Amino acid sequence: MNSELLVSDASRFRVDYEINPYMDTAVQPDPVAALAEHRAIVAAHLAAGRTVEYLPSAPECPDMVFTANAALVRGDRAVLGSPPPQRKAEIPYFQEWLADRGFEVIEAPYAFSGQGDALACGDLLLTGYGQRTDERMLGVLARELHYEVVPLRTVSPRWYDLDLAVGVISPDALAYCPQALDTLSLRTLRGLGVELIEVSVEEAARFALNLVSDGTTVTMAQDAPRLAATLRDRGLKVVELHTTELAKGGGGIRCTALTLDNPPPKQRSDDRPHR
Ligand code: ARG
Repeated sequence: MNSELLVSDASRFRVDYEINPYMDTAVQPDPVAALAEHRAIVAAHLAAGRTVEYLPSAPECPDMVFTANAALVRGDRAVLGSPPPQRKAEIPYFQEWLADRGFEVIEAPYAFSGQGDALACGDLLLTGYGQRTDERMLGVLARELHYEVVPLRTVSPRWYDLDLAVGVISPDALAYCPQALDTLSLRTLRGLGVELIEVSVEEAARFALNLVSDGTTVTMAQDAPRLAATLRDRGLKVVELHTTELAKGGGGIRCTALTLDNPPPKQRSDDRPHR
């Protein structure tokens, strides 16, 4: 998992509008530092042995560095994101890139934050709804990508995308911030039968859960020493990186990489046509 990623670049990254509580148009990223930060993330993916595909950012798209919101990909199918109006111009670039690569591209009929709100965990799809993703997308994703959709809700716009509140470490281990999820979602998560690692609200607020794990190496934000230590204790290799510039846009490491290699569903015997 997560061994094939689509990234863009930070050369157009700016805070031109405020669509999440971290964004403040009066606080702009330093362009040179932002580029360096993003390059270091890409270098870390490559050093971990991941394949990185690249789509150049477009001038009219100051948030295009956050490729995770563009779509959710499984096997050879991709459901496009349907972001807030300020980010709509990004989508055609991704649509074209995915179609050129042979993916069957499906447009989202409702608001959808792409992989930002849809974390694949084996055959499960942890799906955030109620903020950037319309509840009706739950059924659409189940139908179009054949995931077993697990609906989850965060408690405030601070966790406007699920990938700020939950991180997939491996198909059988998740990290999550209990304070970020509502009661029903906590019950759902605890009933999944996967191992759960608790992360403090302080570390989660520093984008600790916005990580990329391939099951061997975890690429994550600096300044979350407790989560980093927990993961190392489990035998994982942990690479910690600065994300202070990206944080001004309300994003971190996970937000800058769209996963292209989520495994397709296995053909189940009950999928065969009945007679
Ligand atoms: N400024 C971007 C937005 O608000 C940040 C997106 C971060 N992406 C994510 N997957 N959390 O849309």
